[in-house]
Amino acid sequence: MNLTVGVVATEINYDEYVEVICRSGVKTVETAGRSPEPFMERFNEAGIKVIHKCVAVRHALKAERIGVAAVIIDGFECAGHPGEEDVTGLVLIPAAANTLSVPIVATGGIADGRGLAAALALGADGINMGTRFMVTEEADIHQNIKQSIVDMTETQTSLIFRSFRNTARVYTNDVARKVSEIEAAGGDFSEIHGLVSGDKQTEAWQSGNIDAGMVTVGMCGGLIKDIPNCKQLIETLVSDAETIIDQRLAKMTSA
Ligand SMILES: Cc1cc2nc3c(=O)[nH]c(=O)nc-3n(C[C@H](O)[C@H](O)[C@H](O)COP(=O)(O)O)c2cc1C
Repeated sequence: MNLTVGVVATEINYDEYVEVICRSGVKTVETAGRSPEPFMERFNEAGIKVIHKCVAVRHALKAERIGVAAVIIDGFECAGHPGEEDVTGLVLIPAAANTLSVPIVATGGIADGRGLAAALALGADGINMGTRFMVTEEADIHQNIKQSIVDMTETQTSLIFRSFRNTARVYTNDVARKVSEIEAAGGDFSEIHGLVSGDKQTEAWQSGNIDAGMVTVGMCGGLIKDIPNCKQLIETLVSDAETIIDQRLAKMTSA
């Protein structure tokens, strides 16, 4: 379960969400956005492990200090909110590994066995993927959206909400272009709120019209070329990473 704190414009009572999570029986929660500090006591009491997703090493260090079980390090390539410092995973993951003691889950830009092998080489203990799982048989989104990701290149994402210091990486569609225009003209959030609502994103996912709303997608959409089921995806990804480590890299070091 994911608890994302403070990235939407509407007022949310997060204590109620925390209570639902604590009573749900889940063993682990992924927190993101603001620090999970206000909720740690309740999560600890419920025996729930907290994994906090961070886009900066200093946030990861703070999360470690307040007692999270692990951190997810989200590189600039990621779908969704990469923060405002634009540090890619190639630097952010080892920078985090240099200073943290808790396990590190790498995320952002990982879509295949090469990404997994690279993340492990950079010091991560595991990986997380968002965009890749959108393009699986099980993902409950329209086939057209999955196909649009299969057809996209790594250059087809846009950063929106930068002028509000709440940057989000999304698919470059009509909505992203319109929002960018409004932001460039100095517009305020009230002018774009209607374009980027969660309802509109759901409409895009369900109708298959990629221009119906904001569509959250990461740069690694450009690496995705098929629509497997999750079992096939994981098996291929792990076996490709093993081949890279045991054969390609091993050959390089033994030469
Ligand atoms: C459709 C979609 C919705 C997402 N929604 C959230 C969210 O609500 N909260 C959150 O913390 N991250 C969210 N993310 C970000 C992912 O959890 C993850 O950090 C990101 O996808 C990693 O980058 P990748 O897409 O390159 O794998 C979302 C990602 C996608 C693709």
